Amino acid sequence: MTRSAELLPENVDSAVDLAGIPLRNPVLTASGTFGYGAEFSPFLDLTRIGGFVAKSLTLEPRFGNPPPRIAEAPSALLNAISLENVGVEAFVREKLPALPEGVTIIASIFETSIEGYGEVAKRLTGVPRVAGLEVNASCPHVEAGGIEFGQSPSVLAELVRTVRRSTDVPLLVKLSPNVTSISEMAKVCEAEGADGISLINAVQALEVDVETRRPVLANRLGGLSGPAIRPIALRMVWQAAQAVSIPICGIGGIASAEDAVKFLLCGATAVQVGTSNYLNPAVAGEIADGIVAYAARHGFAKVAELTGALLDPVGPPQS
Ligand SMILES: Cc1cc2nc3c(=O)[nH]c(=O)nc-3n(C[C@H](O)[C@H](O)[C@H](O)COP(=O)(O)O)c2cc1C
Repeated sequence: MTRSAELLPENVDSAVDLAGIPLRNPVLTASGTFGYGAEFSPFLDLTRIGGFVAKSLTLEPRFGNPPPRIAEAPSALLNAISLENVGVEAFVREKLPALPEGVTIIASIFETSIEGYGEVAKRLTGVPRVAGLEVNASCPHVEAGGIEFGQSPSVLAELVRTVRRSTDVPLLVKLSPNVTSISEMAKVCEAEGADGISLINAVQALEVDVETRRPVLANRLGGLSGPAIRPIALRMVWQAAQAVSIPICGIGGIASAEDAVKFLLCGATAVQVGTSNYLNPAVAGEIADGIVAYAARHGFAKVAELTGALLDPVGPPQS
């Protein structure tokens, strides 16, 4: 597609609709990397970004795994924080009121049983200011022997069905990348009534300290995030976009506006910024501005027009 001449950034419409959640721009921050939002307020005006996804919530407050539970890897972070969170009641009572008006909030849910997920979803339904729910399907399913909910098509189907029946709030399902076919998992979510999908969660990984001859994390295995996983995430977003027609939120190693634009071109409607928040707590705002500047430079009057605008590998040069 050849676009019109360059536009001024102020003439670009940055708004997108993510699965029934209106966003002022397509940049969210990713669950678990942005606390409960207020922690980042001193560094970033939260109304400058599309919104944020809060740390995943369980019914009761929980501690995560024992330390060491975070380590560096090449261009990446390895973490095994797991279930640590304040619990759904404290989130509603204490964390939500601490957020400035005008911030778009998506609550993330996880539990160790399918019924538990459904219960957390019910507690968050009808709560003012919760614009949407994101189901974190990367949690180990205790009854199924500890595999992630998102690793089995039939378990994922039951999970999405149960949560869908528990809530009428816009529902995103966040997929695990630790699967053979991301397209199949995306189709399961669409068939069971999800309004959209988010991908990817962290990639299962292991790192070893040769001097101590021990795994670097007490949990042994952790989730890899950051720029190292970006091309994997991009591939999965592109494949999912070919497979389903519900909107996609792209996640994985996004550190700049150019990174974010790649996800939009590959079919994402919005993106989430995770590990990069630790390096620069204001980066999500800079990425939001940079996407608008890119759209203006390339003659796109609406940021939403970038979604799926990837061209064929070979073709005439673009103006
Ligand atoms: C320290 C840490 C904690 C995380 N906690 C959660 C979580 O509670 N729920 C969730 O869905 N994803 C969680 N994630 C995964 C991120 O939301 C994101 O999917 C992943 O890190 C890939 O994006 P990134 O490369 O931009 O960080 C966590 C990631 C990190 C680094």
